[in-house]
Amino acid sequence: MPNLLITGSNGQVGREFKRLSSEFKKGFSYHFTDREELDITDEQAIQDFMAQHAIDIVINCAAYTAVDKAEEEETLATKINAEAAGFLAKACHENNEFLIQLSTDYVYDNHANRAMVETDACQPKSVYAKTKLEGERLVQSFTDRHIIIRTSWVYSTFGNNFVKTMVRLGQERDALRIIFDQVGTPTYARDLARAILQIIRQDNYLSNPGIYNYSNEGVTSWYDFALAIFAWQDIDCIVTPILSSSYPTAASRPHYSVLDKSKFTTTFGFSIPHWQDSLWACLDEGV
Ligand SMILES: NC(=O)c1ccc[n+]([C@@H]2O[C@H](COP(=O)([O-])OP(=O)(O)OC[C@H]3O[C@@H](n4cnc5c(N)ncnc54)[C@H](OP(=O)(O)O)[C@@H]3O)[C@@H](O)[C@H]2O)c1
Repeated sequence: MPNLLITGSNGQVGREFKRLSSEFKKGFSYHFTDREELDITDEQAIQDFMAQHAIDIVINCAAYTAVDKAEEEETLATKINAEAAGFLAKACHENNEFLIQLSTDYVYDNHANRAMVETDACQPKSVYAKTKLEGERLVQSFTDRHIIIRTSWVYSTFGNNFVKTMVRLGQERDALRIIFDQVGTPTYARDLARAILQIIRQDNYLSNPGIYNYSNEGVTSWYDFALAIFAWQDIDCIVTPILSSSYPTAASRPHYSVLDKSKFTTTFGFSIPHWQDSLWACLDEGV
């Protein structure tokens, strides 16, 4: 029976693990921690936690995710996204545990206008992306027993995200201007958490370590994503498509950031829901 440690469990993905723990009950036991219970930047605290609990798999959902703020807080972002991932990997290596580390599509050198595969070159263009890639490299350097999942555009009924922001703004305002020249695929955090629990349940993650892309299927822009949210929620708001250059942000974001998921689906043998179906499921639950 795998004994799981889920760090950062009050975040979007972490909370989906909590929710799914009743569905994935048989054969699993869970330890949910967030900063209060286990600060992952505290190496000794990680060592102590591992010594006290016989953990089999660590799923690291803890991260510094404020992409624009990271431009000013590089030291803190590096500590959480890079160094702490290394602490977890080192502890996993010493205790013969498996580590599942979450990463981002932003690590890629995405300028090819085609779906990125895991072997594509990386060229992070923001502090956040740089720290996430450094985290991946530290994980790889400390333990072979890892899976790194690069995901994109994560949303959920929990936390702050594009879907919740659009539902709120769409109800408050008559019109919005949304970027149309950034194309990618949203990821419903529940699908990601479920996919991870499914691969753990079928056990073949042990013989298939490495990097995997995971987002929902399909392709969209932020503009089309907003339109889909408003259509499903019956929100009457005029949406004007704008260029990224009309909405400057501190951190640069890729214009084309679609992930090729064939390695994931081929290795683990199950399909991934389309982003529209998952969006409907999330909105039906209420955001
Ligand atoms: N959100 C996205 O669009 C997106 C896209 C691609 C990849 N990802 C990756 O997916 C993963 C999960 O993202 P998410 O959206 O679930 O993030 P999130 O909602 O921001 O959750 C991150 C959690 O980590 C906690 N945390 C931060 N520092 C910590 C520390 N030192 N020790 C313990 N916990 C700490 C946070 O607590 P506080 O709230 O107290 O800081 C928060 O609960 C991350 O690795 C992220 O980089 C996310």
